[in-house]
Amino acid sequence: MRTIIEPFRIKSVEPIRMTTAAERRVHLREAGWNLFKIAARDVIIDLLTDSGTGAMSSEQWAGIMRGDESYAGAASYERFRETIHRITGFHNILPTHQGRASERILAEVMLPPGKAGADRRIVPNNAHFDTTRANIEHAGAEAVDLLTPPGRDAHAIAPFKGNMDVGALERLLAADGDCIPFVMVTITCNSNGGQPVSLENLRAVRAVCDTWRKPLILDAARFAENAWFIRTRESAESARTAREIAREAFDLCDGATISAKKDGMVNIGGVLLLRDDELFARASDLLILTEGFVTYGGLAGRDLDAMAIGFDEALDEDYLRYRIRSIEYLGEKLEAGGVRTVRPAGGHAVYLDAAAFCPHIRREEFPGQAVACALYETGGVRSCEIGTVMLGSHAPMELVRLAIPRRTYTQSHIDYVVETVLQAHAHRESLSGFRMTHAPSQLRHFTAAFEPLPRRAAAGTSAMAAASRA
Ligand code: F0G
Repeated sequence: MRTIIEPFRIKSVEPIRMTTAAERRVHLREAGWNLFKIAARDVIIDLLTDSGTGAMSSEQWAGIMRGDESYAGAASYERFRETIHRITGFHNILPTHQGRASERILAEVMLPPGKAGADRRIVPNNAHFDTTRANIEHAGAEAVDLLTPPGRDAHAIAPFKGNMDVGALERLLAADGDCIPFVMVTITCNSNGGQPVSLENLRAVRAVCDTWRKPLILDAARFAENAWFIRTRESAESARTAREIAREAFDLCDGATISAKKDGMVNIGGVLLLRDDELFARASDLLILTEGFVTYGGLAGRDLDAMAIGFDEALDEDYLRYRIRSIEYLGEKLEAGGVRTVRPAGGHAVYLDAAAFCPHIRREEFPGQAVACALYETGGVRSCEIGTVMLGSHAPMELVRLAIPRRTYTQSHIDYVVETVLQAHAHRESLSGFRMTHAPSQLRHFTAAFEPLPRRAAAGTSAMAAASRA
C-alpha cells in the first residue's frame, strides 16, 4: 500500500516560533502549570484541542466572502440550512455559536425543574464530555456514564470502545426510568479516547429508548469520523458511504447537539437539531434570548457559509481516510517507542496512558498533568490532561490527549511530536506530581493553578531539565 498522503496542498502558511526549554520552564511557572494559561505564541505544536483549530479550505474562505450579513433570512442561513438538512434529514435546525450553547439550550428545554419531591433527573450517556456534564449538572440533573467494560480499559483492543452498555442502560431505566428525561450518545466518545460507536450499538440504544419512550439525543461533534470507523470496522456497513452511515445515525435520534468546531471544519459554530416541533419552538425562543435570531444564532453570516461547506468536506472519503490514518500513525509510532496509549487510536487524537507513563504518581497528584507539563517543557508540545484534573472523580482513566487539528500539521510535525514524547518518556521516573492550589467548582481545568510536589528523583534533576540538555 502506498503512503496515504495529505489530500490537499498548502496555500497559506502561519509561522511557528521556536522556543527553548529554559524559556518554556519560565512560562510553565508563570502559568501555574496550567497549559490553558500558556500563550499560543509560546507553543511549538499545539495539540491542546482539535476544536476550532483546523485549517479552512479555499472553498470555505470563498464562502466567507459570500457571507450575507442580513439580520434575518440571510442567504448564508439558507445555504447552511440546506446542507445540514441534506446531511442529517432534520427540518428543525438552529445555528449556535458552539456546541456548549446547543447543550445549554437542550438542557433548559429538556430538563425543566422537576416537581417537588420528584426532582431527581438523570441523563445517561456513553460518556459525557465535560461541557455536556457541566450543563446537565447546572440544570440540577445527574450525568451518568454507561460505557462497556472495554471502553473503560485503556488497553483492551475492541473496534467500538465508545459503545454504550445497553444492558446497563436497561437496568438504569428499569430502576429509575421516571427520572430519565432523555438518553444521550456521544459520537465519537471523546472522554475515553475518541472511540467510535457502532451503528449496531446505536440501533440497540434506539430500540431501548423506544421501549421506554425516551428521546435519544446525539452529541455528534465528530459524526463524520465516527461514520468512517463504522465504514471500515463494522463489516455489515462496509459497502455504504460515510455519508449514508452518518445519515442513518441522525435518522436514529430525536435531536443532536453539534459542535461544528470539529467535523464542521470551522473555527467557530454549532448546531442544535430537534425533531419535536414544540421543543424546537422553545429552543428557538431561548436562542433569541441569549444567542441571536434563529437565522444566525450568535454567528456572522459568513460563519454559516463556512459551516455549510465544512460539513460536506468532512464527509469526503479521501479526507476521512487520511484523517483517521494520520492519527493511527502517531499512535503506532508511540507504541513502538514503548509509550502506552489508548488503543486503538481515536478519531481525533491519541491519548497517552498517564497512569502507565508515571506509575509512581498517585491519581490525587495528577499524573496526567505531570505528563502534559513534561511534553511542553521538553518540546513545546501542548497537550491536554483528560483525567482527574478535568473530570474529577468521574475520570475513567488518567489520560493526556494529543488532539490533532484538522488539515493543520504535516507528517514531520507529527514525527517531531513523537520525538518529544519519547524523550519525556525516557526521563519519566524523575517526573513529580502536582498539588492544585486553585480549584474552581466547575470546569476547573480551564482556570486551576498547580504547584509541583517535591521531586522524588534522587539527583533532584527534572526529566525536562535533563531532556533539554540532551
Ligand atoms: N461535545 C463533545 C464530544 C466535545 O468534544 C465538545 C468540545 C463539546 C461537546 C462542546 O463543544 O467546545 O464547541 O462548545 N470539545 C473540545 C475538546 C473543547 O477539546 O475536546 P464546544
